[in-house]
Amino acid sequence: MAYPDFNMDHQWLPFTPNRSFKKDPRVFVKADGMFFTTHDGKQVLDGISSLWCVGAGHNRKPINEAIKKQLDTLDYATAFQASNDQAFKAAEMIAAMAPGDLNQVLFCNSGSEAADTSLKVALAYHRARGEGHRNVFIGREKGYHGVGFGGMSVGGIPANRKVYGAALLPRVDHMRFIHDPVKHAYIHGAEPVWEEDILLELEQRILPLHDPSNIAAVIVEPVSGSAGWYLPPKGYLKRLREICDKHGILLIFDEVITGFGRMGTNFGADYYGVVPDMLNFAKAVTNGVIPLGGVICTDRIYNTMMDANAGSPAHAIEFFHGYTYSGHPVACAAAMATLSLFKEENLFERAGEMGMVLGDALHGGLKGLPSVIGIRSLGLAGAVELASVAGAPGKRAYDVFMDCFKQGVLVRPAGENIVICPPYIVEKEHIERIVNVVGESIKKNA
Ligand SMILES: Cc1ncc(COP(=O)(O)O)c(C=O)c1O
Repeated sequence: MAYPDFNMDHQWLPFTPNRSFKKDPRVFVKADGMFFTTHDGKQVLDGISSLWCVGAGHNRKPINEAIKKQLDTLDYATAFQASNDQAFKAAEMIAAMAPGDLNQVLFCNSGSEAADTSLKVALAYHRARGEGHRNVFIGREKGYHGVGFGGMSVGGIPANRKVYGAALLPRVDHMRFIHDPVKHAYIHGAEPVWEEDILLELEQRILPLHDPSNIAAVIVEPVSGSAGWYLPPKGYLKRLREICDKHGILLIFDEVITGFGRMGTNFGADYYGVVPDMLNFAKAVTNGVIPLGGVICTDRIYNTMMDANAGSPAHAIEFFHGYTYSGHPVACAAAMATLSLFKEENLFERAGEMGMVLGDALHGGLKGLPSVIGIRSLGLAGAVELASVAGAPGKRAYDVFMDCFKQGVLVRPAGENIVICPPYIVEKEHIERIVNVVGESIKKNA
């Protein structure tokens, strides 16, 4: 289908129903602050930070200027057997923000690459310690770690996995999901308290089944984002840390969504007071402007990999892994400008404050509406869970998303949930508008 400015016949859209999209497209041509302009001249409020990326809002001049300056200085340089000044500076800045001894940054370009990188580090690290038999990974039901074969295998969203059968990694198990739809349907700015210890399943079933000595790593999102903002039970991550420590298992936090301010703190690890062995990031690190991801590893992991090669010749590479664009100078310049801007404008603190405003508005405005069966809010994000339409899973959330878009508000359908996670610069009026539009759409689609 051709519009005056573009022809839609050649782009295969990701995670999108292509056939219906092309009949009724949503195409952005401009963005500023909290708003997009579409190809047909409509203003759309970005209620999801463009998929959790744009914390500082769109079209931020300090980031744009840093990119332009970097392009004119060093546009690109190979990342293998050489590096660039921007990558070292960005890594230093990121390591300084990370908790504990998470000090060693392996750059990549996306959250999916970060997931696969962290799994490969886990295997290589154990082998370097003489425990190459540790090759089982544990993920969690409904976890999302991107679309690479590693991330997909430890991920637990059925639709993302079902087509790939035996191509998924073989030695993977999954912990049970962390949501109780009856007892914890409505949660606002708090951690759900479970009477039952849901990590007993890991200790008493999964670990003995594989034998803990064979397990390389456990990977979880601190808050389950893509599935629909499902919150961990109180004390869950601390206990997970203890279990991993007891058995020499690495703990990986996938903070592609919770990293860089979404929880009102640098990372979800800070919010929950738990330091993992590896922390994966992407998205908000560059305000979404240029792809960049990474894995922050502990000094212990890095030193183990280096020490294992102490007897190797000087030209021996310690870890056979990396991407052509690992530590791209323009992406790293964008990251440094973004992280400086977050700091100058106190945007993480603001995210925490506006998170309470969002939670109040969601619970106050939407609880009790027809088909609403749960609302969860924490940090600057919330999910409204809707009753499934019989025989058509996900349809109601999709219809609400489409209707909200027509009313000029971008929200995210995730399974039966509508997820809202605006930029940290969001104002109260924007939140009110988002919640009003979502409420009207829910009533229409009840
Ligand atoms: C927790 C988590 N990990 C990994 C990814 C994959 O990131 P990307 O789409 O950049 O590959 C996502 C994307 O939403 C994510 O939320």
